[in-house]
Amino acid sequence: SQTLPSLWGIPLKYLSLVALAVQNSALTIIMHYSRVSTPPSRTYSAATAVLMNEILKGTISLLIAFSRIEPSPSAYEVGQAPYASQRPFARRLLVRLRELSREIFSQDCWKLSIPAILYVIQNNLQYVAASNLEAATFQVTYQMKILTTAAFSVLLLRKKLSTTQWLSLLFLAVGVGIVQIQSGVDKSASMAASATAGVHSMNPMKGFLAVFAACFTSGLAGVYFEMVLKNSQADLWVRNVQLSLFSLLPAFAPIIFDQHTTGAQIGKGLTSTLFENFGAWAWATVWVQVLGGLVTAMVIKYSDNILKGFATSLSIVISFLASVALFDFQMTITFVLGSVIVLIATWLYNQHPARINLAINKESWM
Ligand code: C5P
Repeated sequence: SQTLPSLWGIPLKYLSLVALAVQNSALTIIMHYSRVSTPPSRTYSAATAVLMNEILKGTISLLIAFSRIEPSPSAYEVGQAPYASQRPFARRLLVRLRELSREIFSQDCWKLSIPAILYVIQNNLQYVAASNLEAATFQVTYQMKILTTAAFSVLLLRKKLSTTQWLSLLFLAVGVGIVQIQSGVDKSASMAASATAGVHSMNPMKGFLAVFAACFTSGLAGVYFEMVLKNSQADLWVRNVQLSLFSLLPAFAPIIFDQHTTGAQIGKGLTSTLFENFGAWAWATVWVQVLGGLVTAMVIKYSDNILKGFATSLSIVISFLASVALFDFQMTITFVLGSVIVLIATWLYNQHPARINLAINKESWM
């Protein structure tokens, strides 16, 4: 059998899955805390956070992609033009840079623009959801992305689902529904309490709408990214760089729009509006999100989507316990019931994985 790539003797496959589970719960909690711990007037800009995430993730991916480039030695050993005048080290560096830019700006790089735009929308929606829902409620409801991922896999990848899997998707919807009903009742009381206390008040309806929209983009972007990745030879890290590059423009758009409508009126510069109230918790949220993007890429590479589902469902349990401990989250019987149904549905869905039919009609989609 093949030896798996490992770190400190632990296969990267398992390391990345555990990292994703821990990252998922950490992000939900830190993002929620960073949004609701300050009064609305002192909230940092989510658009800036999304942009920072893409810049940092893109830079790290670029460095990894660069370190993985293996140019054919002939070009710099022979010392042909245009490298003849350079020292061997500089020659090697130039060849690698040229090779990397050729890979990044490949003919098919435009394909990444679709998941890039979708992920930017999704990452912005996550902040709306985290600001308006309890961390654990957000986490459970966000599991609906398994449903959208399945739907887009059937539609775009022509994946076949077993009866058990369709049944588990139904369970998932029921479980999420139960959690939602309970949260809606709970929130009217907590909204009234927080309004009198002068802290950030949450609007669960707005939160749920944001989660549903984010589930839709997550499914579509994920399946599209998988389709691009599995239909070409390009390196995963190069694809990540392309994804970040195409994210820059849509990530910048809301900032420019914001600056135009608010910043310009009070006569502030772009950077001061951009990083207003951008404290330690905002940076912590951004870095955990950067880690998530990189780990997601590793899970796709060293593992598969089936195990990714397990990691995410494990993170629900971690988030629950942390929410109870950190935010005084009330775990009611309906919440536990709904969450248990979601966990069982996730487990059931992963029991009989149907093979992904990758023999798709490339011409029609790519
Ligand atoms: O919830 P979901 O699994 O759809 O979230 C994926 C997250 O990972 C998004 O925030 C997206 O920006 C990020 N991502 C990434 N690089 C990839 C795939 C996803 O940064 N190759």
